[in-house]
Amino acid sequence: MFSRLELKVPLIIASGPGGFGEYAKLDDFPWEYVGAYTLKTVTYNQKCGNLPPRMYARDGYMINRIGLENPGIEEFLSTLKNGEYDHLFEKTKLILSLGGDDYQEYIEVTKKAKPYLGRFAAVEYNFSCPNVSKGGLSIVTDMIEWQSLLLEIRKELPDTFLIAKLGIEGGFIENFAEKVAQAGWDGVTVINTIRGLMFNDDREMLLGGLSGPNLLPITARAVYEVRKKLPDIYIVASGGVYREEDAEQLLKVGADAVSIGSAIFQDEQVIFRIGKHVLEYLKK
Ligand SMILES: Cc1cc2nc3c(=O)[nH]c(=O)nc-3n(C[C@H](O)[C@H](O)[C@H](O)COP(=O)(O)O)c2cc1C
Repeated sequence: MFSRLELKVPLIIASGPGGFGEYAKLDDFPWEYVGAYTLKTVTYNQKCGNLPPRMYARDGYMINRIGLENPGIEEFLSTLKNGEYDHLFEKTKLILSLGGDDYQEYIEVTKKAKPYLGRFAAVEYNFSCPNVSKGGLSIVTDMIEWQSLLLEIRKELPDTFLIAKLGIEGGFIENFAEKVAQAGWDGVTVINTIRGLMFNDDREMLLGGLSGPNLLPITARAVYEVRKKLPDIYIVASGGVYREEDAEQLLKVGADAVSIGSAIFQDEQVIFRIGKHVLEYLKK
């Protein structure tokens, strides 16, 4: 039995581009259209991320190799307890994104976060970051082990709205989503960035994750295939949403909510435009 995420607008800020809520500092951030805000992935240990260059954009693609820079779960929870995120909780629902380097770290990060999860609308597990040498995307390469991890997390968090963030690499995404559903999770976010390689203007090579408008057809196909296989699972569509029509297309093919990622770097008012359009479309 799947549950639904109740959002005032089915528009979610993607994990990463929104950082740890830095946009709350802007006076005119369109909060009325933000259904939920996903924090940047927090891993068991602190991560300093990769050395520069870390980002580059051209021709509708953006590549990043940030490498999941984050303070680690202990430090994150202490700032949470100190009230650092209270202003964000007042503005919208928050989704916590968790990750780890291996099976055990996913379990440990879950146990550490568990006492504080009542404040979050959902927890999204990052099973698809292409920019780390351990964990991330590689966690799904052993399907048997990954399935047992999904079951163990569900057992640990029986009442939490659980979302698995899946990429398109390593197999058919709808088959991964089926495993998520079989483990009793509520939803999936499809997709994450895709492994790519670009040279920047200084001819430096960046091995990282691609995001940007060119991902849209891939995201649309992923949503379509997951919805076809799993009529009831909650689907967050992430990848390539830059315009009002992009969000509409993804809802049409089966997404329950759309996620805005790198588009926010260009202009945060994209949330206002897309959020307004989504509400109008859903009223029709
Ligand atoms: C700079 C940057 C950092 C990101 N960091 C994370 C992260 O910490 N966790 C995560 O699950 N996804 C992360 N992502 C992936 C985004 O959440 C999103 O899935 C991806 O960018 C595709 O969406 P877009 O085309 O709308 O940007 C990051 C993306 C970018 C561009």
